[in-house]
Amino acid sequence: MCGIIAYNGSDDAIPYLLDGIKNLEYRGYDSFGCALESDGGLTIKKDIGRIDDVINEYKLRDLSSKKAVFHTRWATHGGVEQKNAHPISDCTGRLAVAHNGIIENWTDLRDELSGHIIKSDTDTEVLAHIIENRLNAGDDLTSAVKFTFERINGSSSFVVIDTKTDNLVGVKKGSPLVLGLADKGNFISSDVPSFIKYTNKVVYLYDGDMVSVGKKDYEIVNLMGKDHTHDIATANLSSKDIDKGDYEHFMLKEIMEQPNLIKNLKDKEFKEVDEAAAVIRGASSVYIIGAGTSFHVARLGARVFRENGINAIPVQGHDLPSYKKVISDKDVFIIISQSGETADIINSMHIIKNNKKIGIINNEGSTLAKEVGIFIPVGAGPEKAVAATKTFTLSSFYIVLVAMAAVGKKDLAVNDINLLNVNLYNLFVPSVIDAVNAVAGKIKDLESIFLLGRDLDYVLALEGALKFKETTYIHAEAVDASTFKHGPLALISDKAYAISLVSEPLRTSMLSNLHEVKARRGNVIGISDTNSELFDMFIRTPEGGMFSFISQAIILQLLSYKTAVLKGIDMDHPRNLAKTVTVL
Ligand code: AGP
Repeated sequence: MCGIIAYNGSDDAIPYLLDGIKNLEYRGYDSFGCALESDGGLTIKKDIGRIDDVINEYKLRDLSSKKAVFHTRWATHGGVEQKNAHPISDCTGRLAVAHNGIIENWTDLRDELSGHIIKSDTDTEVLAHIIENRLNAGDDLTSAVKFTFERINGSSSFVVIDTKTDNLVGVKKGSPLVLGLADKGNFISSDVPSFIKYTNKVVYLYDGDMVSVGKKDYEIVNLMGKDHTHDIATANLSSKDIDKGDYEHFMLKEIMEQPNLIKNLKDKEFKEVDEAAAVIRGASSVYIIGAGTSFHVARLGARVFRENGINAIPVQGHDLPSYKKVISDKDVFIIISQSGETADIINSMHIIKNNKKIGIINNEGSTLAKEVGIFIPVGAGPEKAVAATKTFTLSSFYIVLVAMAAVGKKDLAVNDINLLNVNLYNLFVPSVIDAVNAVAGKIKDLESIFLLGRDLDYVLALEGALKFKETTYIHAEAVDASTFKHGPLALISDKAYAISLVSEPLRTSMLSNLHEVKARRGNVIGISDTNSELFDMFIRTPEGGMFSFISQAIILQLLSYKTAVLKGIDMDHPRNLAKTVTVL
């Protein structure tokens, strides 16, 4: 993880980059730093802590420069210490490097750097010194970067600022890097929202691309010998998509956007879904790949495929290699990802290089979006809170739609999403919000909670538990209620709280499981379209046919959000986490 943004142009870079780096904070936020060129010298300011605090501490708003690089860090190699914050300079302070990724052979490379002053514990620092060596040997910056790129193993994207070279030089491998072309200068950044206020003209880079970015021009060379076209694309985003607006937190904004996003599905043709369905009809098996929340989407989708007679297997991205010997050329793979940059998945892609691939991916310019044959855009817009919310909902909708289309029942699914669309307006009504607030008040001081469900509701319980862990730091355990009696029931007492998802067609058996909880004096919080005498507290959710689970998922998101607020947790930036996981 980590976020990089750099600017080279005729304007003052600092206001652009101070604003841009805040929009990359979701990528990591344990340290922040910047390197800027002024009067032919390089100034580096960096420290641990949140971006705003470092900006204030070092009075960065008072600085000015026309060429600079900023970095926000999520620590991998080297602890959270000032010396390990980026950018990291060479021995002389002539140049500095901001890096996102991991250099696997960094210890070997560092051992070759005798005579250099090593100032940090990072893998990144070898980049600065190898480039320094090559510049001293007479290379220009692009040749020095090319040489360095060829020596490092692993996935690494980085940007180099050198006081003796007019251009910035960046390299993409694994982690994302994109160019933004503005009237008065060029950006190179980890993602588009960081500069969208200043330009929507973008050039997406491919793995192996090295870009030399001048004030008015740029040049791209692929260091892996690949031949890619680099059209200038228009990013379909506005400032409104990336700001919090009137909301206190991104997580709440993103939760509240869901009814509108679902409404916008109404008049869509879903052409890519039809293409995907046709491919799936010729498949032997369907594998659905994801990580974290996206894996829950995969589990949910696989159930729906199987219920409709198609063999589907959900697989965690990191676990795909274990299926290597059973995969056939006729198997089709569906990749679920918000970011399209998750390393667990990217790292496994070589295993399925000959298979047909469908992507349900939110980030359109991402590595995985470029890898798949059929790309189904999730269309949720930027999601900045670390906890995935609206992308869970929309990706789940698309995987169900693909499954239904594959068996000729697409119209049924479209009909049900329209039903949900109408009924979702009953979701954020005062009685429901009051019930959510009451439950949040009740559970906020608990050390642990259970989330119970059966079948599809169990998948929602898993997703709800992940939201609670990430945003409230409460230990949340999802249990398939049908397996409760095989062990977990031993944990039930009057101190236990079970958030229970109850819906058709398993209402009767689920209520029977809840009787077992009540008999042991456990506390039951019901999330359902119908109240029950078994519920100590109750949150009502509206009906939505096969998509009823979406309203339950939204309630679980809102409940973890409200609980986090009551606990005073900055849930947009949970401890130890970052939004995009580009390390293995
Ligand atoms: C979800 O709330 C998490 N932050 C996380 O589990 C996430 O879903 C996972 O890292 C996968 O990310 P992706 O969808 O961008 O591939």
